[in-house]
Amino acid sequence: MNTPVVGVIGGSGLYEIEGLTEVKEVVLETPFGAPSDVFITGTLYGITMVFLPRHGRGHRFLPSEVNYRANIYGMKKLGVTRIISVSAVGSMKEHIVPGHIVIPDQFFDRTQGRRASTFFGEGIVGHVQFADPVCADLASILEKSAREVGATVHAGGTYICIEGPNFSTRAESQIYRSWGVDIIGMTNIPEARLAREAEICYATVALATDYDCWHEGHDDVSVEAVLNIIRQNVATARAIIKNAVGQMGQQQLTCRCDKALEFAIMTDKTLIP
Ligand code: ADE
Repeated sequence: MNTPVVGVIGGSGLYEIEGLTEVKEVVLETPFGAPSDVFITGTLYGITMVFLPRHGRGHRFLPSEVNYRANIYGMKKLGVTRIISVSAVGSMKEHIVPGHIVIPDQFFDRTQGRRASTFFGEGIVGHVQFADPVCADLASILEKSAREVGATVHAGGTYICIEGPNFSTRAESQIYRSWGVDIIGMTNIPEARLAREAEICYATVALATDYDCWHEGHDDVSVEAVLNIIRQNVATARAIIKNAVGQMGQQQLTCRCDKALEFAIMTDKTLIP
């Protein structure tokens, strides 16, 4: 069995992971520029871990400013085979209560096309399959881990990714709800696409922090409310990661994420340098 190398992309409030030994900081430059921060590498339960705070330490990059290509390229260069994305999200459904965990299985892209979200181009044309953008095997490990640490978990659901940085208008929020989405965030779609192109498994632990602005019985989303819920739940997010990594040593994934490029390249291979 191949031992995985696990990457964690930490969202708002998660700027480090606990329990790592042999911790090192790795500074990487990539052909796409600088990643959000230095990568922190270490070992947990015998598994090599690579951590990156998505918005940089001190939260310096807007969702539109994050260099997603450099982040995923860096993960690949460091040998990462599975990425756990940790993300704060708004809830678009009554039963997803702030404080609950969602493991989404679909994404819907409402970004405005301003983010570089492919490694293809510059003479190489490729189209990866993306019907199922989340690694089902990794998602199921995360779901089990979240249940085991006592979180209330919703398995599956659609994450709508908006450009931000402003939260949505009430009209937008109502329309997104009518589309049937479950959660709303600002970052996951470029990461999921690039991870697929890089043949890395990708799944998200989404922490519901608010009801956006559609729920008449709750205040409209604010940074203060989001940070409050994150503070109350960051220990749970850390416990989920730790538990999930503990299980990964024993479990062979059956997904085909590592073969995403097998039939994806259209360009004549003899023309690729
Ligand atoms: N992140 C956390 N809550 C959010 C919301 N309501 N909209 C977009 N991103 C979010």
